[in-house]
Amino acid sequence: MDVLVTGGLGYVGSHTCIALHQAGYRPVIYDNLSNASIVVLDQLAKICGKRFSFIQADVGDALALRQCFTDFSIEAVLHFAAYKAVGESTAQPLNYYQNNVCHSATLMSEMQNAGVRRLVFSSSATVYGVPQYLPIDENHSKAPTNPYGWSKLMVEQIMRDQCSANADWLAIALRYFNPVGAHPSGLLGENPSGIPNNLMPYVTQTATGHREKLYIYGNDYDTPDGTGVRDYVHVMDLAEGHVQAVDRLFSEQGFHAFNLGTGNGASVLDVLKEFELVTGVSVPYSITHRRPGDVAVSVASPALARQVLEWHAQRDLKTMLGDSWRWQSNYPEGI
Ligand code: WQD
Repeated sequence: MDVLVTGGLGYVGSHTCIALHQAGYRPVIYDNLSNASIVVLDQLAKICGKRFSFIQADVGDALALRQCFTDFSIEAVLHFAAYKAVGESTAQPLNYYQNNVCHSATLMSEMQNAGVRRLVFSSSATVYGVPQYLPIDENHSKAPTNPYGWSKLMVEQIMRDQCSANADWLAIALRYFNPVGAHPSGLLGENPSGIPNNLMPYVTQTATGHREKLYIYGNDYDTPDGTGVRDYVHVMDLAEGHVQAVDRLFSEQGFHAFNLGTGNGASVLDVLKEFELVTGVSVPYSITHRRPGDVAVSVASPALARQVLEWHAQRDLKTMLGDSWRWQSNYPEGI
């Protein structure tokens, strides 16, 4: 079965293509290469033993999407393509709403025209905003604190409304907590362009000497060691969660949303300590001021995904860090 994967050369998208292939699906990758390297397609071929179909186009290009639905027997869509930098979204809200929201509406319109009614959407824990209770479950209030989070919540609303208006649609939003790690082969991993926004690539790039030191954004939070606590989840666990969702696209109806996290929290200092234990590499760091918009703690309740999708994270922090390090050691400059 052909499944369209928008943003399929990106971090979570590319790892999901591996899991889809292993589950017997045929990923058709659709990516505009604005935040991904075409080399990822070669890496996927090395890992999976076959070269996936690839279309270089933008999700906002309705004609390109229409051609894709004509050329392939697409039966479901996994939609990863989006801008995803929280800080950047605050500086460039219109770009984020145009790219993340308007283009998602274009995609769903072309799906409707082509008779494709099954969608899995890459959402984010940022839809919840400042945690009102922990762990965060799917009933938690939705109050994003930045345009990126709002863009994800708006797309979820579009999906919800489309499913309400069309009984034959099924749409699933997967709300990731903190994706980290890399494929165990060491051939694929988090490959941000420029200075990483996220902790993990900054840690591994510092460990290779590519960065001088890690700046820890505040150690005065109300947490055990004062540094921010997050629910880090292995990207391959996330990938497998998407396959579980696709498997259920043909037995359910309507809109559903699920948290994808481990339910376990780790602080920045926990990550550094575990990283040194796993790799033998001590990462130099200094404490600096808090980053605007950061919350003290963000940890998922993954109970609903376990119950409905029969999914739970299987890889621990040690595995996440070891796999990240293997990837970064192989490709210190990324690919
Ligand atoms: C984690 C912790 C920082 C970098 C964001 C998005 C979320 C998702 C994941 C897209 C925090 C600290 C970080 C650094 C640091 N992205 N940190 N120094 O902010 O929890 O989540 O990325 O879907 O939607 O909101 O992740 O990795 O940036 O930060 O001290 O150089 O590491 O303060 O406590 P975050 P992060």
